[in-house]
Amino acid sequence: MTLADRVAAAYAARLRSYGARAPGRFAVEVAGLLVVSLGVDEPWGLQIAALPDEPDPMAVDAAIAWCRERGRQPQVVVREQHRAGLSGLRQVEALPALVASAEVGDDAFEVGPPRDAAEFRAVYGPAFGMRPGLAEALVVDADLTTPDVAHLVARQDGVTVACAQLRDGEGMSYVSGVGVLPDRQRQGIGSSMLAACRSEAARRGCASVWLNASARSQPFYESIGFDLVDTHLALA
Ligand SMILES: CC(C)(COP(=O)(O)OP(=O)(O)OC[C@H]1O[C@@H](n2cnc3c(N)ncnc32)[C@H](O)[C@@H]1OP(=O)(O)O)[C@@H](O)C(=O)NCCC(=O)NCCS
Repeated sequence: MTLADRVAAAYAARLRSYGARAPGRFAVEVAGLLVVSLGVDEPWGLQIAALPDEPDPMAVDAAIAWCRERGRQPQVVVREQHRAGLSGLRQVEALPALVASAEVGDDAFEVGPPRDAAEFRAVYGPAFGMRPGLAEALVVDADLTTPDVAHLVARQDGVTVACAQLRDGEGMSYVSGVGVLPDRQRQGIGSSMLAACRSEAARRGCASVWLNASARSQPFYESIGFDLVDTHLALA
């Protein structure tokens, strides 16, 4: 099994980790495929995991139809190498999948769990330029106490300046929600936060961490030791 295979196999665990802890979140199997709602009205708010193996186009059609019957338009996530079989769908986004080893390093500043979801969201929302209410739906207090997800924040002089999430699955930790307050970016905080994530993943018994970057953030991750292993595509 290649690293790319392992990462693709971990995608479902990544989605399932959102759980049913907030309104509108659910995970169901339809035609053998995992359908997950993140409980937010965004194009990526409803996903069909059509990986790690080459998906049966009829199963994908059935899962899409199931979503549409409920008034929702899903995104189908597939590995780039399996894209040809789903030619009726258009590509919405390419999601580079990158991996780094989990290893305990020298953490540059105070990183730990947030006091509550509001502290996490105080960075998460502004860092990603979220519309009002989105961060509140994506991170609720119940998310902070679930064992398979870790939330981290970094503080500098009492100010919460960075955030990140780790989602365990398939022996790897998935890193998401890495954000730095807009007026604190380009000062090395993001790099330190990723180092802290790799330390935390090692403490959680994982050998590696992975993430889905955007085309824009891929150079940032490569500059701090992440390697591109695969590309996932969001189709609709
Ligand atoms: C991406 C992010 C977390 C980086 O944090 P940061 O504290 O600004 O990063 P650092 O200061 O540690 O940057 C280290 C290096 O990465 C590169 N880098 C950082 N941000 C970059 C970007 N947006 N695009 C390309 N390269 C970038 C630079 O080479 C930088 O070094 P330099 O400042 O000497 O040129 C931060 O910009 C952020 O919160 N962005 C918005 C949310 C986001 O897009 N998160 C990633 C989701 S996939």
